[in-house]
Amino acid sequence: MKLNSANINVMIKACRKASKALIRDFGEIENLQVSLKGPGDFVTNCDKKVEKILIDEFLKARPNYSILSEEVGEINNDDSFKWIIDPIDGTSNFFHGVPHFAISVGLEHNKEIICGIIYDPIKDEMFAAEKGNGSYLNNKRMRVSSRSKLENCMISTGGPKREAKNRELALKEYYKFSTKVLTPIRKQGSAALDMAYVAAGRYDGFWQRNLSYWDIAAGIILVKEAGGFVTDFSGENKYIENKTILATNAKINEQMIEVLK
Ligand code: IPD
Ligand code: CA
Ligand code: CA
Repeated sequence: MKLNSANINVMIKACRKASKALIRDFGEIENLQVSLKGPGDFVTNCDKKVEKILIDEFLKARPNYSILSEEVGEINNDDSFKWIIDPIDGTSNFFHGVPHFAISVGLEHNKEIICGIIYDPIKDEMFAAEKGNGSYLNNKRMRVSSRSKLENCMISTGGPKREAKNRELALKEYYKFSTKVLTPIRKQGSAALDMAYVAAGRYDGFWQRNLSYWDIAAGIILVKEAGGFVTDFSGENKYIENKTILATNAKINEQMIEVLK
C-alpha cells in the first residue's frame, strides 16, 4: 500500500485484526446452513465481535475521536474527527455463505470524509484512499474506468429495501435502467464493494437509494480519489440528506442522471 499516513495505518491494522475473526466465523457458516437453528444468532454475534475489535483498536489509537458505527450507534468524543464503521457490509451474503462482503471504515474530519478503507477479507483486497493522495487496491493505484457510452458499461445497484414507497421507486429505477439502456446490471449485495469496484474501474457506475452513511462513507472517498464522481440522483452533493447515491466514472454521470429522471 502506498498510502502511509498515520490514520490509514491505524485503519488497516484494525481492519486486518477484525478480519481474522470474520474469516474464522465465515468458515462456520456452511455448517450452520444445515442446522435447525440456522446461522441467525451466530451472524449477529460475529457482526458485534468484528465491530468491537474495530472500536477497541480505534479508541486505543485515537482516544479522542468520535465514532458512528452501525450496531452501537454514536460514541461522542471530539466532534471534529469521527470514524464511520460498517463492520460487515453484505451481511446477507455472509449469512448465506456467499463470499462477497467487506469491512468498511471512513474517517470524517469536520464533516468531510478524508480517509476510507473497504476490505474484502475473502479475496484479500484492501481498497484504501486518502484525500489528496489517491486510491489504491493493495499496492496499486486505482482509477475509474474511461468508458463514455452507457450502453458499453457495466453498472451495479442494490436493494430495494422493504418499505413500500422506496421499494416502488427503486423498482422503477431498476426498470428504467433495464429498458432504456441495455447495459448489464449487477446486484452483488454489498454497497461498499460496489463503490470500491467503481473506484477500481470494474464497474462504470453504481446507483442506490436509501443507504445509510456507514454503507457509503469509505466508498465516497475511494471513488473521488480514483477520479470519479459521487452525487445524488440529481447531480448535487446532497447524497447524505437525499439518501440517493450515484457513483460513476468521470464520463457517465450525466447519462445516468438522465435515466434516473
Ligand atoms: C447492506 C448492503 C446491501 C444494500 C443494503 C445495505 P448490510 O448493508 O450494503 O448491498 O443493498 O441496503 O443495508 O446490511 O449488509 O450492512
Ligand atoms: Ca452491516
Ligand atoms: Ca451496510
